[in-house]
Formats: sequence, structure tokens, C-alpha cells
Amino acid sequence: MRFDTILILDFGGQYCHLIGRRIREHEVYSEIVSYDTTPDQIKALGERLNVKGIILSGGPSSIYEENAPKCNPDIFDLGIPILGLCYGHQLISFLFGGRVEPAKKREYGISHAIVDSPHGLLKDLNGNQKVWMSHGDTVCELPEEFEILAHTGNCPVAAFGHREQSIYGLQWHPEVFHTENGTRMLKNFLFEVCGCQTNWIMEDFVAKAVDEMRQIVGTEKCVIGLSGGIDSSTATILASKAIGKNLTAVFVDHGFMRGGESDFVQDSFKGFDMSLFTVNAKRRFRKRLKGILDPEQKRRLIGEEFIRVFENVARKVGANYLIQGTVYPDRIESGFRKHSEKIKTHHNVAGLPARIEFKGIIEPLRDLYKDEVRKVAEKLGLSEKLVRRQPFPGPGLAVRIIGEATQEKADVVRRADRIVREEIEASGLNNGLWQYFAVLTDSKSTGIKGDARAYGYTIAVRALESKEAMTAVFARIPYEILEKISTRITNEIPEITRVVYDITHKPPATIEWE
Ligand code: XMP
Repeated sequence: MRFDTILILDFGGQYCHLIGRRIREHEVYSEIVSYDTTPDQIKALGERLNVKGIILSGGPSSIYEENAPKCNPDIFDLGIPILGLCYGHQLISFLFGGRVEPAKKREYGISHAIVDSPHGLLKDLNGNQKVWMSHGDTVCELPEEFEILAHTGNCPVAAFGHREQSIYGLQWHPEVFHTENGTRMLKNFLFEVCGCQTNWIMEDFVAKAVDEMRQIVGTEKCVIGLSGGIDSSTATILASKAIGKNLTAVFVDHGFMRGGESDFVQDSFKGFDMSLFTVNAKRRFRKRLKGILDPEQKRRLIGEEFIRVFENVARKVGANYLIQGTVYPDRIESGFRKHSEKIKTHHNVAGLPARIEFKGIIEPLRDLYKDEVRKVAEKLGLSEKLVRRQPFPGPGLAVRIIGEATQEKADVVRRADRIVREEIEASGLNNGLWQYFAVLTDSKSTGIKGDARAYGYTIAVRALESKEAMTAVFARIPYEILEKISTRITNEIPEITRVVYDITHKPPATIEWE
């Protein structure tokens, strides 16, 4: 099955992934590709995807800068509808011979757009529209074959459309919720302009993923890393559906798991027909991490060690393929976008060593956002407890210990983590939270315990709300609950003298501290 697809050409804009998710919310598949994807490459994608529309994303550049990214202008001749947003809007106008100049006044925030022509992209959107703008340049003069669809006080061409072809531009960001009718605008593009069908539904995804896996591995055996998190659990059930007894799931206890994790995994997968290996790898991980302080080096070493453990098991059971629960954001943050910064090495992506014994690595969830993985998990019959579980990073508590990750420190942060979880869950706040956990900082401070001086570590408590981990806001936990957490941690864990609460959103921080 080829899903109706909107391709997003990525010019490096901060909202690029928000566009992708907004489209998928309407059950239309979207995929982000590099801005310089050629018309031939787009045609070739046709084997896999039914490309119905193309969006040119925003980006930080100015059209006239040297090396400003530009798409291949021949994409306008493909006969596929195109929508440019912000930088994409300016680029279309520029490539057709229009004039783009620095705006008299930089527009940032809410603006009011007057709709001059409520059709096509702006169908049924009359009068005055509250829109979100963030731009320095502006289109001042349109090429002849285009007409103005909307303007603002500061921006004479805030929206345009080609007179004959389905090519549109919006200076504002319809994907940002501050644009009051942004959803309506995107829906107009998807359904009125591109004629998409709503076929990105998780039942179809499951059938397609199972089929793909069978085609790749045939009758060969595979191993999968199962951490007990939602991603690897979902990938495991998908793989077991696809290849049944040829799958061996491997739970690696690297010594940095939360308390009770191994039992939880054994219990959760009891009812499924597959073999599950638990490998006690504490010693080898401890050895590899000895003396390592740099977070990125830690992540790479952990990624490599995981692979070596999987290779050992694969040799024993005669498996040739490794299956992983990698999701879309893991790939993005590990620097898979050509023109975006690498934020951190997710253990299962950029943390992979150069030399591996496997014939191939299969990642059935590689194109899904977390909320989509949860939908797939529900379809596959995973328990509510597993589906609603908060995400936990593969490198585990090792990336929640700042500096050298020793087993002693892992024990301290594990106890603090248990207290944070117990108190948040007892308060009922957990249902609205994306993640809540403890971090063992490397900062020591003086305290008083039982009338005596104590000099111990600082625990940072972190709790966040998020939809898909690309952005997150710190949770407004009531002081009484924070107080309970702080009192319990300092009373029950002798090594801790101080507890702080992390009030940083993502961005600028990331969710995990390392
Ligand atoms: P950051 O810290 O990058 O985290 O804002 C985003 C989400 O990903 C989780 N995370 C990981 N998951 N392997 C994983 O499987 C990793 O190496 C890893 N690092 C971070 C993190 O808990 C959050 O949900």
C-alpha cells in the first residue's frame, strides 16, 4: 500500500517537524526530506509513496545570502501541488522572478492578515485572520503569473497563489497553534488543493510494517533489543507478528535500569509467543564506563556495548538481523537532518559502531512519532500500563548521572527515581505528564542531618509535559508534592543533602540532562 503523502522539503526551520506532525494528525502521511531533493528523486519515491503535495518549510536563511538553500526549480513542473511557508514562500516568489526584500519592520508574533481572495488554500477564510509571523524578509512584488491572496499592514504579499497551477505561499506559519485557523489552512491544502485521502491509519501501518519485515528477513532469524519501554515493546510485538518463532527478544540489564524493570518486562511479555533472553551485562558496562565523564562518549560506548551483547546472543541463536525500536525523533536528534545540528547521540542511532556483525538492522518504527507508536501499541494489544508508560532512555540511569556513571551512583539515583515516581503517581499527576524522574548531579553541598554536618550530592527533579518529545515544558508541580519528594529523598537517601527542581523547557534544555 502506498500512503498518500505530503513531502516536506527541509530548509532548516524550527517548525519543520511540527508541520510533519500536524499533517499526520489529519491521517495523511508526511515525510521530511532534504531541500535539494531532485525531481527524479521525488519521482523515484513514487515506488513507495503516493506523493500528493510538497511543502517548502521555513528556514533561518535570507534568499539573497550567499549559499542560501534553494530547491531545484524543476519541481514546479512535476504537476504536484506546492505550498511554501515563510522562507519557502519567499523562495517560490524569488525563483519565479518576484522581488523579496528585507521587511521595513521585522514581524515576530501575532499579526492580522486581511484575506483578499478566499479560495484554494484560503477557502472559506474571510476577512481578518489572526496569524503567527516570524520573518525578516518579505515578498514585495509578485511575478505576473501569481495573485495576492492576503496582506498585512507590514507585508503586502502575505499569501499568494499561482493563477493556473496549484502553487501557494504563506508568509505566516499555519502549523503553529497561535495561527487561529491554521488547521483549516492545512486541511484546505491537503484535501482541497492536493486531494489527499485519509489513509495514514495505524491498522494499515501495522499490515505494511509486518509485510515489509517478512520481505526483508524471509525465514532468517532475528534478535531484538527489548528494554520494556514503549518503542522497543511495540517493535517486539510487531516483529513477533511478522516472524513468530524466528524472533528472540533480548533484555539487557546494564546495571542502569530502574528498580523492578526486569520483572516488569518478564511479566508484560509472558503471554506472547517468543523467546525472551535476559542478559546480565552489568560487569561489561561498568568496565566500559569507568572513568568516562563526557556525555557523548558515554552514549557512544553504551550504544556499542549494546550491539556487542546483541551479537553474542545472535551467534548463539543463529540470527542474522537486528531489529530496533528507533523512532523518528531519535533519528532527528542524532543528526539525521542534513542541515540541522546534532543535539545528542541517541544510543540506537548515532551510537551504533561502524563495524557490526549483522547482515542488517531493521527499524519498523523509524518514521513514527511517539504518539503514533502508542496508537500502534494499542492496536497490537499491549497492556494499558505499557502503552501509558513514560519513556525511558536506552542508556538508562547512566545519562541521569552527571559525570562518571558508577554502580554506587546508579543505586542512589535509582532510589531517588523510585521516590519521584511514587509521589507523582500517588498524587495522580502522572497522567498529564510526559516524563518525571530524578537526576544525580555532580554538585556537592553542605547540609545538616541529625544535628551533624553532612556533605552530599544534589538531586535534580525533572517533570515535563510534551506531545512528542521534540519540545516540552516543565510541569507546574504543586509545592506540597515537591516538598514531599524533597523530604523523602533527603531523609531516605543519606548521600543526598539537597534537592532542586528543574524549571527549564525544551528548548533551550533537552529532556535528559546528558
Ligand atoms: P532529549 O533528552 O533528547 O530526549 O530531549 C528526548 C526523548 O528521548 C529519550 N531519550 C532516549 N531514548 N535512547 C532512547 O531510547 C537514547 O539514547 C535517548 N536519549 C533520550 C528521552 O527520555 C526523551 O523522552
